[in-house]
Amino acid sequence: MSAPKEVWSSRLGVILAVAGSAVGLGNFLRFPGLAAQYGGGAFMIAYFISLLIIGIPIGWAEWALGRHGGSLGFRSSPGIFHALIKKPYGKYLGVIGFIIPVMIYMYYVYIEAWCLGYALNAATGQLSVPGMNYGEFFGRYTGAGSDGVALHFGLHDVGLFVLIVYAINFWFIYRGISKGIELVCKYAMPALIVIALIVLARVLTLGTPDPLKPDQNVLTGLGFMWNPGDISEGLKNPQLWLAAAGQIFFSLSVGFGVIITYSSYLTKKDDVVLSGLTASSANEFCEVGLGGLITVPAAFMFLGAAGIVGQGTFGLGFNVLPEVFARMPAGQVFATIFFILLFLAAVTSSLSMLQPGIAFLEEGLGIKRKASVALLGLVTAIGTGFVWYFSKDLKALDTLDFWVGTLLIFIQATILIIIFGWTVGIEKGWAILHEGSALRAPAFFKPIIKYVTPAFLLTIFVLFILKNV
Ligand code: PHE
Repeated sequence: MSAPKEVWSSRLGVILAVAGSAVGLGNFLRFPGLAAQYGGGAFMIAYFISLLIIGIPIGWAEWALGRHGGSLGFRSSPGIFHALIKKPYGKYLGVIGFIIPVMIYMYYVYIEAWCLGYALNAATGQLSVPGMNYGEFFGRYTGAGSDGVALHFGLHDVGLFVLIVYAINFWFIYRGISKGIELVCKYAMPALIVIALIVLARVLTLGTPDPLKPDQNVLTGLGFMWNPGDISEGLKNPQLWLAAAGQIFFSLSVGFGVIITYSSYLTKKDDVVLSGLTASSANEFCEVGLGGLITVPAAFMFLGAAGIVGQGTFGLGFNVLPEVFARMPAGQVFATIFFILLFLAAVTSSLSMLQPGIAFLEEGLGIKRKASVALLGLVTAIGTGFVWYFSKDLKALDTLDFWVGTLLIFIQATILIIIFGWTVGIEKGWAILHEGSALRAPAFFKPIIKYVTPAFLLTIFVLFILKNV
């Protein structure tokens, strides 16, 4: 059964939506956190190689297969995989394509709620009270606070904000592709870039914020994030490669079934080569250019290395940064807009995690939009309940993020690129990719897609398993 006919209202709309999916907490928290953890240089080398070998090609494969599946009347990744593989197991392979994003949604939305809560508390001056204990404040959001419960509904607790972000996400998902997702991205994306540029300008003009600590200045802050460190030692570590490749997947939203679903609402006239490249470039600009220059350098300038190391992704954003803003001139303003920025980035991403699930419920099970939205709302709310229960332990969140956000995607992405390069066949895949495209992808990507990408993914995977089992 085919889903209702819906399309993006403009070319720019779909690019903004995919860029919106890509630009998220991954860019402003996860990326800087990982780069700092693995020591700058080596991580960045693995990161850029991964961008070239997996991010760009798998992204193109998804754009191409999604639009092709859409032209055959399919929207969900099980439907599209079924149509491509033409064997019964096809649809089961595609199932991971909506389960992973839904699982990520369950914890991602919880962090989105922290962002909204922090933005509101910052705006009302309750996040920068002198002498405030930010760890204690954050504890009320994670359940590690004084009474151990996160689910109160005051302005200082996470409960209310979880409800609000759920309502926002499901309202726009209910409104559909062009009146929901596209509309949000059209406003949120430009707004977040403007805000990020303002915050960046603030960070880069801080000079030496504490005259008593002259070695904590803009340059050493940037150096802490970007200095090469011991590259050859770092590159021998399979965990680093896994983290770098995982970040490429996570950040570009590639390999999840998200781009497949989004591009299924395109027509044959659309240039997916160019759209894919534009959306990826927008993401890299926000990640390396903005995220990589704001979060860690700012934290270093005020708190030094000791304040950053060992904080993990979420500690960095919610324990460390409020302290940083509190010490910064006009910190309240910058804290407010920064957390608004995080929130906007997160919404456009979380919406994209839901759409593959909705597409599957509508198309695969023939459930109407309203009921699909309600059902997915219920399932994800139960999941978020578990996350809330475990969130006291931030390590547990990081671990969940590692298993779902890094390891499962490896499997899904490997399946996807093998389907594109081998099952569909690289020649046919290449032709599908270029339908309606004025821009041609460089031909050297053909052997990359067929041999290098799958080999690269399998090697990292096997090395990682060997080292950890
Ligand atoms: N790319 C998003 C980010 O960087 C996260 C995301 C993951 C979105 C998976 C969709 C699917 O935050």
